[in-house]
Amino acid sequence: MEIIIQPTPEDASLIAARHIARVVREKPSAVLGLATGSTPLPMYRELIRLHREQGLDFSGVTTFNLDEYAGLAPAHPASYHAFMREHFFSQVNVAPERIHIPDGLTPHVPAFCRNYEDAIRTAGGIDVQVLGIGTDGHIGFNEPSSSLASRTRIKTLTAQTRRDNARFFDDPASVPLHVITMGVGTIMDARQVLLLAFGVKKANAIAAAVEGPVTAMHPASILQMHPVAKCFIDEPAAARLTRTEYYRWVYEQKPGWQKV
Ligand code: PGA
Repeated sequence: MEIIIQPTPEDASLIAARHIARVVREKPSAVLGLATGSTPLPMYRELIRLHREQGLDFSGVTTFNLDEYAGLAPAHPASYHAFMREHFFSQVNVAPERIHIPDGLTPHVPAFCRNYEDAIRTAGGIDVQVLGIGTDGHIGFNEPSSSLASRTRIKTLTAQTRRDNARFFDDPASVPLHVITMGVGTIMDARQVLLLAFGVKKANAIAAAVEGPVTAMHPASILQMHPVAKCFIDEPAAARLTRTEYYRWVYEQKPGWQKV
């Protein structure tokens, strides 16, 4: 894994956004795997700025979101459909027919999940997958004990994740119990993975993901097995890592052609 430690979430997000922009410029038909939550917001803001000010063109891009709450309609303000509309899709030029977000209201979950996997394959596979990390180590909504080979499916949230996400709901009891999420195996099939994590509340989760053993008890740790996984973190999220000097040294010594 490549560990990129920056002073602030904005600094880290700017580099992650430039990385995505480069992929989209080199491959206008790129397939992007997208994430929700507080973490990717500054990255989306920078991508929107690049679209407005530098003409970054998303018209050929296809997107697949990681997950959605089961039982929430796309119009529900806490749904990930609503999140993506508000924070990204309404402000860039991704073609609506190339936007894919799991359908929280699907009446037939297994068939929907199979079709989602088929759609990713038909689109040519995900070029870059953006990820946040849960305080319990989840990626997507793959909670601890998720199969490291899992595909898109229904999952039950942990009590901790429901507490962490209660801030998006009027009433903590209304946080859904179930979600539809890409599997760990689905995420691992992406050609590149960008993991973003900010703030001291993510420090333990990042230390376990980057320097701990690979284990289904901390699903993000599987990214150690990914050939192109980049971890963009701020100083507080890096606080529990032991090898930070080396990670900084690697980043400073990068050959020019590798830099974003
Ligand atoms: P957050 O969520 O960005 O809102 O902290 C991350 C996650 O749960 O994956």
